[in-house]
Amino acid sequence: MEVLGKVIGEGKSRVVYEYLLDPNWVVKVNKERVNYFGIKAVHDANADEYFWYNELKKVGLHTWLAECKYVDGLFLMRKADKLVPGKYVIPMWFKDTNADNWGLIDNKLVSIDYTWFHVKKQPTWYISDGKVKRREVSLEMFTSLKRKEIIVEE
Ligand SMILES: Nc1ncnc2c1ncn2[C@@H]1O[C@H](COP(=O)(O)OP(=O)(O)OP(=O)(O)O)[C@@H](O)[C@H]1O
Ligand SMILES: [Mg+2]
Repeated sequence: MEVLGKVIGEGKSRVVYEYLLDPNWVVKVNKERVNYFGIKAVHDANADEYFWYNELKKVGLHTWLAECKYVDGLFLMRKADKLVPGKYVIPMWFKDTNADNWGLIDNKLVSIDYTWFHVKKQPTWYISDGKVKRREVSLEMFTSLKRKEIIVEE
């Protein structure tokens, strides 16, 4: 049975389709692209997203991400509504403030494009007394970090 509906979006690494079995989910399909070495290859952005959803779930921060899962080999993500004009506040550890990569699910702000480069790796390294040191970032620090904004114009 055909489960892919209309194309509802496309980015550098994925094409996104309606999921005909359930309108609350979309299907994301990795695109073949030319990589750094000039070779055509598929970078599995979906697997990165799945990894991050499950990592952040361990610390309760997955609520910032649209839920994703694999069903019958297809990568599905909860369908989000487009952001309406306004000001949105997100945690500092997201690199991506492009409104196209954010949406609303049940009126709650979530990231819909969270491959690894969109999340800052923690813990960080720093230099003190001429030595490289590792700073462990506690969950409390991580969640209370300064916030940044996404502005969507009218
Ligand atoms: N969960 C979702 N719900 C609704 N629309 C979505 C969802 N995920 C993606 N889209 C739509 O598809 C577009 C492309 O998806 P996405 O940003 O994940 O692809 P990408 O190739 O990783 O993007 P980029 O070029 O930003 O790296 C989005 O900008 C959005 O319009
Ligand atoms: Mg995108």
